[in-house]
Amino acid sequence: MTSRVLMVLVTLVGCIQAADKYWDYIVVGAGPGGLQMGHFLQKAGRNYVLLERNSVAASFFEKFPRHDQLISINKRHTGKKNTEFNLRHDWNSLLSDDKSLLFRHYSKLFFPQRVQLLDYMADYQKKLGINVQFHTEVSNIRKETNATTNKTVFLMDDQNGNTLKCKVLIVASGLSKPVEPKFQGSEFTENYSDVSINPDDYEGKSVLIIGRGNSAFELAESIYGSTNFVHMIGRSRVRLSWATHYVGDLRAVNNALLDTYQLKSLDAVVEATTDDMQLVKTGDRLKLELVDQQAGVSENIYDNFAMRDLYDKVILCLGFQFDNGIFNSSLNIKKSKGREDKFPLIGYDYQLRDVEDLYIAGGASHGPDFRKSAGGFIHGFRYTARALHRMLEWKYEGVPWPSVSILSTDLLATIIKRINEGSGFYQMFGMLGDVMAIRSAGEEIEYLEEVPLNLLDRLSEITGHSYDEVIVLVLQYGANFSGPGKDVFRIDRATGEPSDAHNSNFLHPVFYHYKQLPTAEQMSSKTKYEILPRPDHMHHIVEDFLTLWDAPSSHILPLRRYLETVLDRDLRTFYASDCLSMAMLHQTVPLYCQQHYLSGRGIIRAEPLFQQS
Ligand SMILES: *[C@@H]1O[C@H](CO)[C@@H](O)[C@H](O)[C@H]1NC(C)=O
Ligand SMILES: *[C@@H]1O[C@H](CO)[C@@H](O)[C@H](O)[C@H]1NC(C)=O
Ligand SMILES: *[C@@H]1O[C@H](CO)[C@@H](O)[C@H](O)[C@H]1NC(C)=O
Ligand SMILES: *[C@@H]1O[C@H](CO)[C@@H](O)[C@H](O)[C@H]1NC(C)=O
Ligand SMILES: *[C@@H]1O[C@H](CO)[C@@H](O)[C@H](O)[C@H]1NC(C)=O
Repeated sequence: MTSRVLMVLVTLVGCIQAADKYWDYIVVGAGPGGLQMGHFLQKAGRNYVLLERNSVAASFFEKFPRHDQLISINKRHTGKKNTEFNLRHDWNSLLSDDKSLLFRHYSKLFFPQRVQLLDYMADYQKKLGINVQFHTEVSNIRKETNATTNKTVFLMDDQNGNTLKCKVLIVASGLSKPVEPKFQGSEFTENYSDVSINPDDYEGKSVLIIGRGNSAFELAESIYGSTNFVHMIGRSRVRLSWATHYVGDLRAVNNALLDTYQLKSLDAVVEATTDDMQLVKTGDRLKLELVDQQAGVSENIYDNFAMRDLYDKVILCLGFQFDNGIFNSSLNIKKSKGREDKFPLIGYDYQLRDVEDLYIAGGASHGPDFRKSAGGFIHGFRYTARALHRMLEWKYEGVPWPSVSILSTDLLATIIKRINEGSGFYQMFGMLGDVMAIRSAGEEIEYLEEVPLNLLDRLSEITGHSYDEVIVLVLQYGANFSGPGKDVFRIDRATGEPSDAHNSNFLHPVFYHYKQLPTAEQMSSKTKYEILPRPDHMHHIVEDFLTLWDAPSSHILPLRRYLETVLDRDLRTFYASDCLSMAMLHQTVPLYCQQHYLSGRGIIRAEPLFQQS
């Protein structure tokens, strides 16, 4: 009776003001980054919810990219069946154990359509049972400390006046706010979000596009056949993805306009910033002027000024930035400075610099590896989200970073397997790497996959294992090979000579051995050419045309020698029959025979590594 009255009361109160809801983890946004986090939280059995303002997952792709074509590759064939290896060339799938959730089943196109990604994301959410609350737009995110328990919670409001609470907040809302600089005359511009994408609307028009990223070139490419000409303006020189090895730079699939510029077919690209720009209405058309802000004078003083022709349309295509409007100002969420100003200011653990327990996942977590690696794209942040989840598991749930213990004489085989199939450190090169902790005076190795390299000094703290002496495996490009304007096709670009391995330019495995973990000071004083501080011993495996490091004398032998030096152990392998005859003829047998056949530890691990997604 009483309980019924209570229920009626609760319902009544609920009509006026719904009760506060609490989860351990709230993820804001059900885009690719949010769904990837959702899967890991679901799999770990955590109390969590994803809050999504729209009615579908990955709703950004309902509208963008405007011309439908993604620039993430969908390479369905590699000649290999190994799923881990194949993820190296699949840039659209999220991680899961369900083989039907591979993007190759959703599109045959090498550059797929955005609607296909929408289908994929919807299935990913449903099939994996990820808990998403749609139609929930959060705002006013703030933090509160309970005076009794001294515990902090995040609070946020939804559009219906509910208050939602959580202990750990992960914001995966991506980059959703267009970058729209204000300058004199900017009101005359159109923007990428709403501009017409019908080429007929550009017949005989002169067009200026402000921006020089992929969205700008995507638009230029689709209209340049209809226009008088397309001019493009950007603040820095054109950065070609093939020269910088950064997938966010201009990709070959979008760069046809560079041809028509260099072949003098009227299209052109120019360097300038919007700070120096103003647009003046001249009849129906627009005139661009460059102004020296300090002197306050127009720079169009010469009568041959490059952009003296008038434009019919000026379109802003400067990409998107993180929207920090969902936070209460008391949290003081800061953006990164400089080139990364589109991103929130976070550490290498993806936690906001000044707000404990608040993390960023997905596209907005790209700040720390902006223009270095792939963390701004699905094929990168699916791995950084996994790394983040592993750190959260230790920090909040007491579950250490997954690791396996292997015998030192199995280390070589384990490494060969990893460098030839591991996808996480291949996509997130220079940012994630495998760590091998040396135990029992070099007899045993504890192996951890895909650890954030920049947290090496805090390894014990983030993983929950205590470490001292380690070998770190990284994939990296040659230090001075990549960059805008670098000639990456020069005739001596590659080497095949094992003794010249340290001069390898293309992506190749590098090993760093530290007798002691580097200190925070060493980590912060490395130069921009260094991925990790100077180790005690270092080894490069020579770059390989096929990215297949399995050649016995060029790849494996030098690596074995290196490991033998570092571990001070004989790492040769033997057949059981050879071990037996050596045991009968000699007082001692090699370490491999001892570890595998004589010590009682002799269970050979057929699969030394687990693959956990
Ligand atoms: C931030 O929180 C304060 C105190 O709760 C509130 O008065 C203010 O309206 C909030 N600001 C926003 C932008 O929601
Ligand atoms: C603080 O925590 C205590 C114990 O969990 C709880 O009873 C109390 O309602 C909390 N106070 C507030 C203001 O949330
Ligand atoms: C509450 O927690 C903060 C930080 O965790 C700590 O500095 C402070 O001393 C605690 N206060 C009490 C009353 O326990
Ligand atoms: C983009 O342009 C459209 C129409 O030209 C305008 O309605 C819209 O507000 C603009 N978007 C932004 C974010 O300013
Ligand atoms: C790369 O080039 C810079 C500047 O020219 C130089 O200082 C640096 O030593 C070079 N690094 C390597 C590894 O060659």
